[in-house]
Amino acid sequence: MATPYDIRLFGDPVLRKVAKDVVNIDGKLRKLCGRMFETMYAEPGIGLAAPQVGVQRRFFVYDLDDEPNAMVNPVIEESSGEWLHEEGCLSIPGLMWDVVRPKEIYITGYDLDGNDVAIEADELLARLFQHEIDHLNGVLLLDRLDDDTRKEALKTLREDFLDREEAPPQQQSVGGLSLP
Ligand code: CO
Repeated sequence: MATPYDIRLFGDPVLRKVAKDVVNIDGKLRKLCGRMFETMYAEPGIGLAAPQVGVQRRFFVYDLDDEPNAMVNPVIEESSGEWLHEEGCLSIPGLMWDVVRPKEIYITGYDLDGNDVAIEADELLARLFQHEIDHLNGVLLLDRLDDDTRKEALKTLREDFLDREEAPPQQQSVGGLSLP
């Protein structure tokens, strides 16, 4: 079944842009989120950030336990602890890595009705939020890997691209990134 969007894949420059704040939380945004949910569920995935469908705005949709949610203009207010867990990304399909991230976070933002939202999240939900907010900052999972693992990952990705006879991803899009 065709989904409303093709998810942008690693190598697409839109994934490296810093997204801008959402200005209006309106019917247009809600409709867009509806199409993003459709795209996310079809994969299937548990989170999808606007840049992954080519929209350079700060919001993402997610569904961790059969409850569709969206977060607009999210901000990580606090984070603590450390948690190592396997993590993948719909923009880097088929690959997973163990990544260390803060275990608990406190984030604020808005829901699709424009209401303030504040969530204390830990483990998987905290990880999901951090992963999607990374997308809003042009940061990819690869940037969270240690140097050796990242080199290995880029090699695998290049080979995958060559196997598909497509242009290899540009390595320059990965280096020199300042993390939030
Ligand atoms: Co991702």
